Amino acid sequence: MWPDDAGLKRVHEQLSSLPPLVFAGEARRLTSALGDAAEGHAFLLQAGDCAESFTDFTADGIRDKLRVILQMAVVLTYGAGVPVVKLGRIAGQFAKPRSSPTEMVGAEVLDSFRGHMVNDDLPERAARVPDPDRLITAYHQSVSTLNLLRAFTKGGFADLAQVHAWNQEFVASSSEGRRFDAIAKGIDRALRFMGACGIDLAREDSLHEVDFWTSHEALILDYEEALTRRDSLTGDWYDCSAHMLWVGERTRQIDGAHCEFLSGIHNPVGSKVGPSATPDDVVALCQRLNPERVPGRVSLITRFGADHVETSLPPLLRAVREEGHPVVWVCDPMHGNTINAEGGRKTRRFDDILTEIKGFFQAHAQEGTWPGGVHVELTGDDVTECLGGMEDIVEDQLHQRYTTACDPRLNARQSLDLAFRVAEFLRD
Ligand code: PEP
Ligand code: CO
Repeated sequence: MWPDDAGLKRVHEQLSSLPPLVFAGEARRLTSALGDAAEGHAFLLQAGDCAESFTDFTADGIRDKLRVILQMAVVLTYGAGVPVVKLGRIAGQFAKPRSSPTEMVGAEVLDSFRGHMVNDDLPERAARVPDPDRLITAYHQSVSTLNLLRAFTKGGFADLAQVHAWNQEFVASSSEGRRFDAIAKGIDRALRFMGACGIDLAREDSLHEVDFWTSHEALILDYEEALTRRDSLTGDWYDCSAHMLWVGERTRQIDGAHCEFLSGIHNPVGSKVGPSATPDDVVALCQRLNPERVPGRVSLITRFGADHVETSLPPLLRAVREEGHPVVWVCDPMHGNTINAEGGRKTRRFDDILTEIKGFFQAHAQEGTWPGGVHVELTGDDVTECLGGMEDIVEDQLHQRYTTACDPRLNARQSLDLAFRVAEFLRD
């Protein structure tokens, strides 16, 4: 892929000598938290951009995305009645698999954009040439993103009372929001109940700080390998570019390079699972990635589409359960529901997203398995990329604020709307 072999070698050496972004002990703690989700005692919220961008990169953008995820997590915690594991698609999500190596721009055929870690999205031939120096830029942007996330989540920004106040604002801000009043009031009462029991809310660390983990698709193995280090404590290998890594729908072949890489690291890992996956494929994938059957080691992120989830998911749930593999079942309601709007813009309907999640919960209820989490593409910005939701964005509005570097994301209000609705399913 890289036209410049010598450049790639130089970059690989440089990345290999740079400090890790995360350390092995953190990855082990995440495996343990995900183990709870595999066993029905926790719920995973994995969320962030489809593709992070080198050009759209600001402190406010990071803050607003984190804020939405924290707000969703509080609502989901209340709905699920179990801890919510907060995992960003962030601080490394810079590479995109593409269905086609080229795309038409006007009358010209250009190489596809592969994410800012590889090339640029400008509609020009020169911009699309892969440049290994982008791996270094991706590393530094990930470092500064993670630094801010750590500061926010341990420095007071994640305070439960504050996050709850933001949610109350959301509920009060529109007539549609007020339909969630019962949940917001329930959270309010729970907080007052704790206070009444003598718990000093102001002094309880767990109410002011949260663990926030990072993840991305392990697509560019040159980057991932350069950041893979041996843990001095255990002697095991960890990919220190993020806490959790996954393989995408296009690279999940069990004898392929990407699964080979994931099988060799000790981080928690995941795989997307789309409509072409058979029960045998999925069991083989579990065996390949988790022969020791460690709970929390593997998450299976299913993305079938609203019309297929109810028929396609149950056979997989059954097969994995019968083989005794502990996995976190995660619903990605985004990637099976992408459509082309008039004018060619990719979009997704809020209602399809919700329908897939509903089908996911139904399939688990039917099979007696635990719906372990959701995986969504979102931003804290007020974009117009997905259709519907409480402001009912329509096709004619998509062009207004369509800024994604790849797939269409839920905006902040659509994300909260979704979280409240999922909380209702969980509670029921
Ligand atoms: C993605 O998560 O952005 C993606 C490309 O997903 P999938 O591999 O499921 O198509
Ligand atoms: Co995407």
